[in-house]
This record gives sequence, structure tokens and C-alpha cells, in this order.
Amino acid sequence: VADPARDAVDAVVASFDAAMVVVTAADGDERDGCLVGFHSQGSISPRRYVVWLSRANRTYRIAQRSTHLAVHAVGAGDHDLAERFGGTTGDEVDKLAGVEWSPGPGGVPLLAALPMRVVGRVLTELDLPDADHVGFVLDPVAGGAGPDDPGTEAPLRLHDATDIEPGHPA
Ligand SMILES: Cc1cc2nc3c(=O)[nH]c(=O)nc-3n(C[C@H](O)[C@H](O)[C@H](O)COP(=O)(O)O)c2cc1C
Repeated sequence: VADPARDAVDAVVASFDAAMVVVTAADGDERDGCLVGFHSQGSISPRRYVVWLSRANRTYRIAQRSTHLAVHAVGAGDHDLAERFGGTTGDEVDKLAGVEWSPGPGGVPLLAALPMRVVGRVLTELDLPDADHVGFVLDPVAGGAGPDDPGTEAPLRLHDATDIEPGHPA
């Protein structure tokens, strides 16, 4: 069925070519992370950051029980990590096995290979009953390399990641 409004959303979003992030979560010994394109700053003062997780994802299920989430910037050269976190699901494989990480606030996995990151305390969930993604509003409590860090590279963008088949259909 033709739906011009929906197509307009898709076209505008595609034109933005969002930078990809990997969001990680932990609840005790349960940990996971997934590739996320739906994310943005949500307030200037105080700073707030919002990430949207699909209800289908294991990362979402763990995030519901997490005190903190980590939002990792993905560089243009990190396609293999994007594929690992976006193309496989923690329901089938342990994505963190073989990846260097350390526990951050609330035990959230901090990925050594992706040092530019924001760690935030989960303030609230934006749970729209008929929506397939849920927003997690974060209060930033820690972070990694700043934007002036000389190691900063261009982000991996949506058009770089469209070859990745999501581990879970949305
Ligand atoms: C380009 C791209 C963008 C994605 N954006 C999101 C997103 O914004 N939110 C989300 O929850 N999943 C997103 N995904 C899907 C998850 O990364 C993917 O289904 C993952 O395998 C889920 O793993 P999990 O079940 O271990 O959490 C995206 C995947 C791709 C390839």
C-alpha cells in the first residue's frame, strides 16, 4: 500500500546518513550490546542522550534491567565490530567473547576498541505502546575520548552498514 508519509520519513532519514553507535548493557552476569542507528542528544542543560532499542533485541531485554548503558562511537574503520554487534544476536552467540572490554558503572561493558563513548545512567524509558523501539534516556556520568582527541576518525555511517543483516528483524 502506497504511504507517502512513511516514504518521506525513510527518505529524510536516509539523507541524514546517521553515524552508527554500539550500545552495551549489563544486568549482573548478563551482558550484551547491539549496533544502533536511532540515537541523539535530547537536552543541552542538563545533557541527556537518548538511544532507541528494538523490543526484539536481547540488548533491549537486558537494558530494561540495567542501571547504565554505554554508547560507543563506531569509526569508519570498525565495520567488523559493527557487523559483530549488528549482524549477530546475543540469543545465539556471545558477542563479547573474544572482544576486549572492561566493566564500567553498573557493570556495563566498555569496549576497548571503541574508546569514544558516553556512559549514562538510565533515567527513564520512552515506551510507546504501539512502537517497536523503546527510548532509553541517559544521564551521562562518564565518557571516553573527547572530540579533540587526535585519534578521532570519521564515523561509520548508515550507508556503510546497510550490508549488515540485523541479527534480529526489528
Ligand atoms: C544499520 C543498522 C542499524 C540498526 N539500528 C538499530 C537501532 O537503532 N536499534 C536497535 O535496537 N537495533 C538496531 N539494529 C539491529 C541490531 O543491531 C541487531 O538486530 C542485533 O543483532 C541485535 O542483537 P541482540 O539481540 O544481541 O541485542 C541495527 C542494525 C543495523 C544493521
